[in-house]
Amino acid sequence: MSLLDAVLTAVLVLATSIWVGGLVAIMVVARIAARTLDPAARVALFRGLGRVYLVVGTAALVVGYAAGGVLVRHESGGPLLVATGLVAVALVAVLAVGVEQARQMTRLRRRSVEAAGDPALAARLAEQVRRGAVRAAVLRAGLGGLSLALLVLGVAIAA
Ligand code: HEM
Repeated sequence: MSLLDAVLTAVLVLATSIWVGGLVAIMVVARIAARTLDPAARVALFRGLGRVYLVVGTAALVVGYAAGGVLVRHESGGPLLVATGLVAVALVAVLAVGVEQARQMTRLRRRSVEAAGDPALAARLAEQVRRGAVRAAVLRAGLGGLSLALLVLGVAIAA
């Protein structure tokens, strides 16, 4: 292995750790926040966390894609590489949709908190939040599943 490939491998492992570790850490924070914070505090927490993690997570993903992209230059194509490319693109697409949906959820939850004095509006918003939360859970599961798939494919290419 050349020195360049060794450095790129280290960068790829670090970027992957940050990406996957970040997902797991946010899941833990979400569980604890649901148990310990009131709705208004939870909205404020995820507004800040989501925005900052969008920068950190996206940076890790971009660096990982760049390092992985250079490392596969020796590979001669084939179904494994095509599958990896497709999963990588799908992951970015699900991330973009998930972030937009999460922003809508933040707005919806904020309106829901503010509507506490209007029972009819509060009930309507609570139903929208419930349906949105199911969609958010599906998107987050997709994010986790695609991340794991990418990890497995990357290891398979390296093997
Ligand atoms: C790379 C991964 C992720 C990114 C980049 C991300 C980013 C974001 C962004 C930008 C927001 C909206 C903040 C705003 O209002 O501007 C948000 C909200 C939120 N995120 Fe994430 N997020 C990620 C993963 C996760 C995961 C794995 C979970 C939990 C399992 C999670 C739970 C939440 C929750 C609960 C909210 C508040 C909105 C809602 O109630 O659905 N996020 N996130």
